[in-house]
Parts: sequence; structure tokens; C-alpha cells
Amino acid sequence: MLVHESAWMPTGLDPEVPSAARVYDYFLGGYHNLAIDREFAHRAQETMPDLPVILRTSRRFLRRAVHYLLDQGITQFLDLGSGIPTAGNVHEIAQEVAPHARVVYVDRDSVAIAHSALMLEKNANAAALRADLRVPRDVLRSEVVLNMLDLSQPVAVLMSAVLHFVEDDAEAQAIVAAYRNALAADSYVVISQGTQDSAGEQGEQVIRLYDETDSPFTARDRDQFTRLFKGLELIEPGVVYVPQWRPETPEDVDEHPERSCAYGAIGRKPLY
Ligand SMILES: C[S@@+](CC[C@H](N)C(=O)[O-])C[C@H]1O[C@@H](n2cnc3c(N)ncnc32)[C@H](O)[C@@H]1O
Repeated sequence: MLVHESAWMPTGLDPEVPSAARVYDYFLGGYHNLAIDREFAHRAQETMPDLPVILRTSRRFLRRAVHYLLDQGITQFLDLGSGIPTAGNVHEIAQEVAPHARVVYVDRDSVAIAHSALMLEKNANAAALRADLRVPRDVLRSEVVLNMLDLSQPVAVLMSAVLHFVEDDAEAQAIVAAYRNALAADSYVVISQGTQDSAGEQGEQVIRLYDETDSPFTARDRDQFTRLFKGLELIEPGVVYVPQWRPETPEDVDEHPERSCAYGAIGRKPLY
């Protein structure tokens, strides 16, 4: 299917700079990307041929995480760095099980938010906000969040494949802590992010390539990733490569989970 760019492209985009959101869209089989994004994606895939599989694996972790949260009775979701809508968006997964589930999508990318808003036009229980997740106060005090979510009740904050776009480790920890502090007890924080622990030279090269995009990439090792969950109780199986997080089908995990090059975990905010 060919969708003409002028039909969906917000004004003010720099067509010379690849966008991490649009590159991800391309890898997941979407159509909201430009020539510069596709050219970048091809170079990244030449460097690391498993990249499309890695991204789909990460997306499957997100689906399982939402299923787990629904099983715990969670029906409010704040999806930070939600990306351009594609197959299996959080509100679709959640509202299939709990039709009244409420979802707010947050992204700084204009294409991601324009398309999320369009998709949600007729959905009274989901909304999209263009904002920078690194400023938790702006997100949490936004009209969109306050109208859609009841922060006095448990909420799941999702940070799937996004914190590797925050360079500084202390800042990443402070961001997670700020959201955690704003949540009611029994809320959850889901994080997945890229690691160099298993990615080798190919991973190094792809990270260098991402310097050309609007979102330079910072890998975190297992200890750095684990520190993001300070003040939260890790849910079993703890910090693992994303395919190892409660696989539901044989397709979810193979004998080389480390090839996902991403850690995933879920933490719960304790009562005290
Ligand atoms: C790799 S995509 C992940 C999409 C989705 N969360 C998933 O797991 O499939 C990362 C998204 O994070 C967004 N992003 C990166 N840094 C951000 C920031 N500081 N604030 C909000 N969104 C951000 C990008 O625009 C992109 O859409």
C-alpha cells in the first residue's frame, strides 16, 4: 500500500533528519515514514541484520506486560514514548479485555501524536498528548492526563523502548522516580530498553548510526537498568532479556533471548 506523504505528514518536519519514531514505524511495517527514515533503516539493518526481529520482540514484551497488568486489575495506562500507532496498540490490547480501560499516549514526535489522535477520535477512553517524558510534571499535570486518568488510583506507566533515548543515567533514574512518586500504591512501572551486554560490535555501530537521528541512543547494562527500579518491587522474573519475561507462546522466546539486545522488567509501587 502506498500512502502519499502529504496525506499524513504534519507541517514543520525536517525531511533531512531521520526520526527514531518513523524508523521504528518502518521496521514494524508501517507507512508513516519518509525516504530519509527508510534509507537510515536500511543502513541500520545492513549493520545489524536482526534489527527488525529485535524490534518485534520488544513489541511482544509490551503486549505481554499489558496482559499481565490487566490480570492484576490495572485499567489505567500512561504510555510514555508510545510511538506511531501500529498493530497491537496498548488501548487495543487493554480495551479488548477491559472495554472501560483508559489509556493516554505520550510522545514528543509530531507524526506519532497526530496519528494517535486521529486513531482515537471516536474512543472516549483514550487520548494522546504531545510532550517530553523527561518533564514528568508537565505530563502529569496536563489536562489530557488529568481528564483521562485518576492518579489517586493505580496506574501502569509504560516506558517501552524509550529510556535508551535518555542519555544521562542519573536523569533516567530521576525521571522514573518522578513518575513513581506521583503514583498511588499498587501502581506499576514497565520498562524495556536496549543493552550492549549482548549486542557486540554490531550494536556499537548501530548506536553510532543513531547519532544521525533526532534521538541518539544510550545502551544500559544490567546494573544500570536494574537501578531504574529503585523504590519499586520487581515482579517475577525480575530483570531479564525481554523474550524471557513471562513468555506466553513458544514463539515468544527461543534459545537465544540475549539476541533481543534489550532488558525488560516490571516494578510495583509498594504500600510503604
Ligand atoms: C522505539 S519507539 C517505541 C514505541 C513504543 N513504546 C513501543 O515500545 O513499541 C520510541 C518512541 O519514543 C519517543 N521518544 C523518545 N524520546 C522521547 C521523549 N523524551 N519524550 C517523549 N517521547 C520520546 C520517540 O519519538 C518514539 O516514538
